[in-house]
Amino acid sequence: VNFASDNTTGAADEILAAITAANKGRAMPYGNDDLTRRVEKKISEVFEAEAAVFLLATGTAANALALSVMAPPFGAVYCQAEAHVNVDECGAPEFYTSGAKLLPLEGVDGKITVAELEEALLRADPAVHSVQPAAISLTQATEAGTVYTVDEVRAITAVARKAGLGVHMDGARFANAVQSLGCAPADVTWRAGVDVLSFGATKNGALAAEAVVIFEPALAKDFAYRRKRGGHLFSKMRFVAAQWDAYLRDDRWLHWAGHANAMAVRLATGLIKVPGARFSFPVEANELFVSLPDKVIDGLKKDGFEFYVWPAADGATPIRLVTAFDTLSADVDALIEAAQNHS
Ligand SMILES: Cc1ncc(COP(=O)(O)O)c(C=O)c1O
Repeated sequence: VNFASDNTTGAADEILAAITAANKGRAMPYGNDDLTRRVEKKISEVFEAEAAVFLLATGTAANALALSVMAPPFGAVYCQAEAHVNVDECGAPEFYTSGAKLLPLEGVDGKITVAELEEALLRADPAVHSVQPAAISLTQATEAGTVYTVDEVRAITAVARKAGLGVHMDGARFANAVQSLGCAPADVTWRAGVDVLSFGATKNGALAAEAVVIFEPALAKDFAYRRKRGGHLFSKMRFVAAQWDAYLRDDRWLHWAGHANAMAVRLATGLIKVPGARFSFPVEANELFVSLPDKVIDGLKKDGFEFYVWPAADGATPIRLVTAFDTLSADVDALIEAAQNHS
């Protein structure tokens, strides 16, 4: 049973059915088809905004292209140290911004804090020798499986705004965050000061579907060119749009994320009872990090459970367990039972 990542999942049947349904007849290419137009509008409606929406197919492209509209080549982008943009994108943000520098902040529980952002901005040097503060990137839900509250996002964006920074949100797991907060998507994005969102669907049931949602009109001006130049303007865009259409229909995206989050809580509730179990972070979305005695980890591996061992800053080596839209409660219960048996 695989708990390594939500990237190990397949696509939901509803998504595949939508792709098949879109595979009929001819449709204009490069996003000039009716389905793409409808989906762009629908995404705007989800956010109760007149947003500019651009579909693409990887989160790395979404993040890197989003940052490229707010950071010049000599700009600084503040992010949490473990952020995907900082450690998992092979320099794509630096590449697409033509050289902006990512400046990592330590954060608490995977979240940037107001205090450290303020301190970093105080340290910023206007001298010609230094990169100049340009943007912040918040990951929602975070790489630690935690979620910024609406107030936390607001407090950070207020500091950013005062310093003239653009605000990007990496929402590869945005559905999990919204479901966890129980708020409107708008409340934790543009109403809380976010300028550009990378809205992910791939980890939560899509095959390959992401979107850049730009709330600040001035930032959208050149995005179409940037997406094309970046190789993410798909000729058969209708197939990306079809995934989004199915994803948003009847709030499936929230139901699927809700299931993933509930499975994470179920895992946590069972594992906390295993002697020696220690959680690195609060469990607020669909990822959990738990230290367990070596014999338990070895036993789980021998039983065929798959997961990553995740070196932590405090020297601990928790395992990371990730749940998803299709995680079976029987598999969760089997892992808990096995952990108890090996303890
Ligand atoms: C926080 C976060 N952002 C973005 C991504 C998107 O990555 P990809 O380019 O693999 O779609 C991921 C994928 O693991 C992620 O975890």
